[in-house]
Amino acid sequence: MNTLPPISAERLVDLLRTAPKAELHIHIEGSLEPELIFALSQRNGIAIPYASVDELRRAYAFSNLQSFLDIYYAGASVLITEQDFYDMAWAYLLKAQADHVIHTEIFFDPQTHTARGVAMKTVIDGLYRACQDAQAKLGVSASLILCFLRHLSEEDAFATLEDALPHRDQFIGVGLDSSELGHPPEKFARVFARCRELGLHLVAHAGEEGPPEYIWSALDVLKVERIDHGVQSTHDAALMKRLAAERIPLTVCPLSNQKLCVFPNLADHNLGRLLDAGLCATVNSDDPAYFGGYMNDNFLQTFAATGLTAQHAYTLMRNSFEASFLAPAAKRAMLDRVDAAFLA
Ligand code: ADE
Ligand code: ZN
Repeated sequence: MNTLPPISAERLVDLLRTAPKAELHIHIEGSLEPELIFALSQRNGIAIPYASVDELRRAYAFSNLQSFLDIYYAGASVLITEQDFYDMAWAYLLKAQADHVIHTEIFFDPQTHTARGVAMKTVIDGLYRACQDAQAKLGVSASLILCFLRHLSEEDAFATLEDALPHRDQFIGVGLDSSELGHPPEKFARVFARCRELGLHLVAHAGEEGPPEYIWSALDVLKVERIDHGVQSTHDAALMKRLAAERIPLTVCPLSNQKLCVFPNLADHNLGRLLDAGLCATVNSDDPAYFGGYMNDNFLQTFAATGLTAQHAYTLMRNSFEASFLAPAAKRAMLDRVDAAFLA
């Protein structure tokens, strides 16, 4: 990585906004804005227990992960048709483009939908069509990662995998999300082993609220390539050393961590510590409609609160592509675009 020329505070803000970046941790159901929830509830005749967009937005005050998930799953209940999934993803992809996200790897939670009788094909076809249109019409490269819900059984995850396999060419990997505490990674050892045999990329949420032990088992039992969140790793020096030595990416989500009370304030966030310890940390939005911001909001608010530097910004933008599942040539080309922005 190059040493940067002097960069003013003003120029740094401009770079945070306009430099090319990859987003690797976005739950597409978490991009569903209250306005779209209401529009879809009317379009599909599905009642939601809130009288207005404002009342729904006022309910977005969370004390921990579970308090958020309860509302997040309720919001997703308005999604029924292929066009609904397309519209949700397209709205996110437009925001991504506006934030100079040039590559995104999008999580989706099929069990949230199949449990309500929506077909797997409906979910995947809608999301995938939006990803294809993003490349063609927005110049944004986008791929899909299917997440298993960890509060459900491994058997349910296996059935979901079976259901999704006819669409194997429409998603690049699998992840693990939902309620972390009490649902350690090893609960999904066998289904992740099967996904590995199938050549899928593997990621898992670990160390968001859960202990460092969950990060160890995500790596050693599930054999994931990236850790989603991972911010609890700073409580374990041996783990920090390993993550740095092996360049295992952490997809960190600062505004999410603030809203779910993982850190009392954004100023207390440990992103700077992770970067200074040589970890491949990245910035991501997680559930932007619920946590008060998309990618650039995460960058701008985190830098304003913590005093991270231009060198940190450059490292974060480069890390986002290094940590991506892009093919080597595309990765190199995008890293060159980061260098061009910062070294100009
Ligand atoms: N599903 C959506 N957002 C999540 C998060 N932050 N942690 C776990 N599961 C999620
Ligand atoms: Zn997440």
